[in-house]
Amino acid sequence: MNDPAGNGSGHGAPPVKGQRTSGTRDGGEVRGAMRAPQRILVVGSGAREHALAWRLGRDPGVVEVHVAPGNDGMRDAATVHPSVGQVDFDRLVGLAGRLEIDLVVVGPEAPLAAGLVDRLAAAGINAFGPSRAAARLESSKSFCREVAEAAGIPMADGATFDRSDDAIRFTRRLAGPVVVKADGLAAGKGVTVCATADDAETAIRASLDQGIFGVAGRRVVVERRLIGREASLMAICDGSTALALPAARDHKRAGDGDTGPNTGGMGAYSPLPDLGTEEAARLVEVFHRPALAEMARRGTPFRGLLYAGLMLTPDGPRLLEFNVRLGAPETEAVLPRIETPLAPLLLRAADGSLASGGAAIDVGWHAAVAVVLAAAGYPGTPRTGDPIEGLDDARAGGALVFHGGTTFVDGHFVTSGGRVLTIVGRGADVGAARAHAYEAAQRLRFDGMQYRQDIAADTAGAIAPTGAALPELAGAVT
Ligand code: AMP
Ligand code: GLY
Repeated sequence: MNDPAGNGSGHGAPPVKGQRTSGTRDGGEVRGAMRAPQRILVVGSGAREHALAWRLGRDPGVVEVHVAPGNDGMRDAATVHPSVGQVDFDRLVGLAGRLEIDLVVVGPEAPLAAGLVDRLAAAGINAFGPSRAAARLESSKSFCREVAEAAGIPMADGATFDRSDDAIRFTRRLAGPVVVKADGLAAGKGVTVCATADDAETAIRASLDQGIFGVAGRRVVVERRLIGREASLMAICDGSTALALPAARDHKRAGDGDTGPNTGGMGAYSPLPDLGTEEAARLVEVFHRPALAEMARRGTPFRGLLYAGLMLTPDGPRLLEFNVRLGAPETEAVLPRIETPLAPLLLRAADGSLASGGAAIDVGWHAAVAVVLAAAGYPGTPRTGDPIEGLDDARAGGALVFHGGTTFVDGHFVTSGGRVLTIVGRGADVGAARAHAYEAAQRLRFDGMQYRQDIAADTAGAIAPTGAALPELAGAVT
């Protein structure tokens, strides 16, 4: 149980490090300075939430992990509550109360932006995630710029507009390629990278005058286009302290070589050759800490996961966006690497006590690569109902298989969403992890299955041959 790697069924997976201990509920078990929540409820239904449920379930002191609404594929890691939707606040609060949940961990942005954490707080329930007011850092790109500007965070030149003629005039003044961003949440489609001033004008008019993004696009941010490699730097935050997770890199386009339409993410890897641990700790002081200070100054402190989307430009890193939650599929590549118990850290972030207790993140597995297996039609309308074969086979080699869009019907899994499965390979370096992930991916089949062949290919260096993928890392986290 509790293991997408199928470790429990003895498929030759790496050894499990440490045993789960079950503490006493009233004692509020303390391990060192770390108080662990015993009963956790994860909100969301994708592979990110599967990875969260799996990772939290391995922490000492954690007794139960629940997910709402979850999906059928997560049942190996958690108790799933499919009838409780992620924005069904009354039922979520009721469920958390009934299950005596010690900590709710909110995965997606929609419930955060709608104020789930405020509702839970009002009911006296600890939750890891920002308040509705703090979630505006993601739900409004103009607010994000305003905060970043006030905090002195490095980012592209740009400005916010409600009127298309003003925006177009500004674009011409910037002289050069720009990016036009719808202010609100637009299902990942609100950003247009424009090669020419004419493209920019078209994008501005489409959003402000034609309303293609609805209310989300009634205001736009226009920014100078930056060139460089992107990096996702996530930090656990408690309102004033920020603790960096290992950096990761997403692959957003559907096709190999970063071609084709934008997606929710087709793969990710960690660590990054161009953003190591020390640099991550330094950058958190440049991007996250000033944002926390500014949010606190405004009376809306940020607690939860602050994700900085960075562009590593020749002039140094620049902020592209803040997200207020774990990224997907970065989470699937980052969490399996972390050895430090995560649940106590999330609880301390939720109650504002991260700074106490010498917080640090220890990394176990050296590298992880996550490859998304997507359904036919994705990122448009995905086809559903295709039977999935090879799940046990894929896990037999020790790869992690996180379910994002699957349903269990008549004794087998079928596809039920766009990003069907996220396969995570681990290894001594990115090359070995990559080979491990692809070796497992090749064992999976469903009609219309599509995945990128080049996740982490650019940095893998000497790529370990397929079949030699699983390193011998005695004692590594599994
Ligand atoms: P989203 O995650 O939908 O907000 O899209 C953000 C993506 O847009 C980033 O990952 C970048 O690829 C791109 N982007 C945003 N701002 C800029 C910028 N100033 N210059 C270049 N690309 C950008
Ligand atoms: N991987 C990017 C995101 O989660 O928004």
